[in-house]
Amino acid sequence: MSRASSAIDQQRLWDRHMAIAQFGATGRGGVNRQALTEEDGQARATLAGWATARGFDLYVDDAANLFVRRNGTEADAPAILSGSHLDTQPAGGNFDGIYGVLSAFEVLEALDDAGIGHKRPIEAVVWTNEEGCRYAPGCTGSMVFSGKHSIDEFLDNTAPDGSVLRDDLARTIAMTPDAQRRAPGIPVAGYIETHIEQGPRLEAAGLTVGAVTGIQGGSSFEVIVTGEEGHAGTVPLKQRRDAFRSAMAMVDALYEETADPEDTVRFTIGRFQAYPGSPNTIPGEVRFTIDFRHPDAAFFAATVKRIGEICQANAGPCGVEVNTRHVGAPADFDETVIASIERIAGELDIPAMRMASGADHDAKLMVPLCPTGMIFVPCAQGISHNEAEMADATDLAAGARVLADALLEMANR
Ligand code: GLV
Ligand code: MN
Ligand code: MN
Repeated sequence: MSRASSAIDQQRLWDRHMAIAQFGATGRGGVNRQALTEEDGQARATLAGWATARGFDLYVDDAANLFVRRNGTEADAPAILSGSHLDTQPAGGNFDGIYGVLSAFEVLEALDDAGIGHKRPIEAVVWTNEEGCRYAPGCTGSMVFSGKHSIDEFLDNTAPDGSVLRDDLARTIAMTPDAQRRAPGIPVAGYIETHIEQGPRLEAAGLTVGAVTGIQGGSSFEVIVTGEEGHAGTVPLKQRRDAFRSAMAMVDALYEETADPEDTVRFTIGRFQAYPGSPNTIPGEVRFTIDFRHPDAAFFAATVKRIGEICQANAGPCGVEVNTRHVGAPADFDETVIASIERIAGELDIPAMRMASGADHDAKLMVPLCPTGMIFVPCAQGISHNEAEMADATDLAAGARVLADALLEMANR
């Protein structure tokens, strides 16, 4: 019997990446295609066009998650899902997320080309707003699909440009008019997501595939420090309620708390804004974000709790509000899925190893729903969330070949 992997078309997979790369291209090799923008909608519409040209069914849910379905012989059986996201960071690359969507779609096309049927339906999915840089929180789409949150909780969220999620969702859904509307959260029997590693380990080890064992704990917060605006030339230092100065004290204390000689803690302040932003006005408000991650559940939970306490303790004369955007405990993937990825890579002579994920992924939200796993492939020098992000066409195809055989096994179980 022919293997689904034999029908993976490396050139087609690469060409599809280059086609999607046009939407939001920065002219410096990277892309700015943040969630639910016009560019995100155009990328989705392009995928939808490829899907309908193939005769696949298309669905969209209330969170604008988009599903391309190849039906199985058991029409009502729970589906096997595979996918990732098409949204990017403001200065993002052409592979983070995109690869997961396009490799899943490539598997559907490969199965079609080879005339291979399956029992369960297989769906390639585009999750909405994985990155979370325009609208918080990230993984909005998979959170809604998983039932962890309702979309209603997020509809009034605003982007830094003043846009409201409710409007952007409606506009994005309207950009794939061929997709039938369906409720979020259909029954799922398995999920595998492919992704570039976004770190240097596979490349350094000279390996092509990572059988991902799980994802570390991740959290994000927005801190709002409130002081009082005043004249930079006149207000005595002792009388000031300088929001910048208090924010700096918090930031210093947070860096001290998260210092780690073993280099396991991941702590990032990615946005820091002072208002009104005038050189000669004392800042009356500072807003900054915190992204904190760790693989150990107990340490993760304890530090998440400490973050708010540290901000309060260092507020000085200012007020402070710490808004939790997202807290996700570490998650382990399913042993049978990890083992099948390792075994299939071996059968295809693709060198592989087990590894944990430092980055967050929609797969984490699927863990409570069904047997879940991920396949990593290398990216050049481990660079990601950067316009220089790059992956090798042969590695992308190798990961898609492992995905094809793994999905087909799941779909016939
Ligand atoms: C997703 O890109 C993450 O922040 O891990
Ligand atoms: Mn990603
Ligand atoms: Mn990302």
